[in-house]
Parts: sequence; C-alpha cells; structure tokens
Amino acid sequence: MDVRLVPFGERHLPGFEGMLDDPDVKRFTRLPVPTPPGFPRTWLDRYEQGRRDGTSDAFAVEDEAGEFLGCVMAFGIEADARTGELGYLVAPAARGRGVATAALRLLTEWGFDERGLLRLELMISVGNVASKVVAERAGYVKEGVLRSLYVKEGLREDHELWSCLPSDRSR
Ligand SMILES: CC(C)(COP(=O)(O)OP(=O)(O)OC[C@H]1O[C@@H](n2cnc3c(N)ncnc32)[C@H](O)[C@@H]1OP(=O)(O)O)[C@@H](O)C(=O)NCCC(=O)NCCS
Repeated sequence: MDVRLVPFGERHLPGFEGMLDDPDVKRFTRLPVPTPPGFPRTWLDRYEQGRRDGTSDAFAVEDEAGEFLGCVMAFGIEADARTGELGYLVAPAARGRGVATAALRLLTEWGFDERGLLRLELMISVGNVASKVVAERAGYVKEGVLRSLYVKEGLREDHELWSCLPSDRSR
C-alpha cells in the first residue's frame, strides 16, 4: 500500500472529524467521548504547538491522489531521553488494506531519522487486535502489559506496551 504522510493541516480537519464517531476510535483511543464542541480545531492547535516546541506532531495519511485515509501522531516526545509515543487512526472505509502498517512504518522512520529518537512506544488496549497486528508488522516488539491504564474519563483498561528501537529495523 503506497501512502504518504503530510503535515496535518486545516484541510484535513473534515476527514479527522469524520472518524470521531467510529466505535473503534471511541473505544480504543484517548480521543474524548462525547466529542466536545470545536474539538478537531483544539486537537490541531495542540499538535501545531507541539510541532513548534518539538514535543509532538501530527500527519495526515494520504494516498497517491491526495485522498485522506487517516492520521498518525507522535506525542510525549522527550528531547533528552530521545523517546516518544506514537498513535494512528485509519478512516473506516480505508481499513484492512495495510494503510496503518504502511503509515506506522513511515512515522517510525521519521521518529528515528528526522527526530533522532532512540525509543518509540505504542500503548495498545489488550482488546485491539487490529492494532497489535499493525504493531508487529511494523517491527514493534511487545514488552508487557500495563494494568488498568487510565485512557480517558470513564475508561481504564489493560494495555500492552510495544516498542521499536533503531536496531529493530534490521530484523
Ligand atoms: C487499528 C487500525 C489503525 C488498523 O488500521 P488498518 O489500516 O485497517 O490496518 P492494516 O490494514 O494495516 O492491518 C490490520 C490487520 O489487522 C487485521 N484485523 C483487523 N481486525 C482484526 C481482528 N479483530 N482480529 C484479527 N485480525 C484483525 C486486518 O485483517 C489486517 O490484517 P490483514 O492485512 O492480514 O487482513 C484501525 O482499525 C483503526 O483506526 N482503529 C481505531 C483507532 C485505533 O484503534 N488506533 C490504534 C490505537 S493503539
């Protein structure tokens, strides 16, 4: 699957907003439920601030024609520790075609090569089978389970911690 990552911008907000009602997005991500008024803009503002101060970034995932397929994010980037956490969402209509796997591979390269990070993490709900498949295919290694992790208001759940190091790329 050929995808590209482009810095997330205003023009991607309708595509982002269109994913917020999806049951898997509500169930498996930290995005708030119900969606507060004006949330997509607030979300982007936060990532634009992170882009400026180096603590986070967001990218739209597009196909060759520029069609919006989803988004990937890096957050909690710590310059001293050279670590960060990654996340990904694919629009329901674009799922099951390898979009998340391809996009996570690209974001992982960005973390290592553009940002010089040495450890990238994913937190995946134990029930999120599709996301675990994606993590493994993109070269991540499961390290263990964090019990009863706080996800968002009303949701605590066991989560698997997966990581990728630059040396995992040659495996
Ligand atoms: C998780 C998510 C990003 C996967 O996106 P995607 O583009 O469909 O992922 P891919 O196509 O690269 O790979 C998914 C794989 O998991 C498989 N899969 C999906 N649901 C599955 C299930 N319940 N059991 C087993 N395999 C499953 C798919 O069939 C596919 O494998 P295949 O290529 O052999 O068919 C997407 O479902 C999503 O956006 N979910 C909501 C947000 C989310 O959970 N984000 C991750 C938070 S950690």
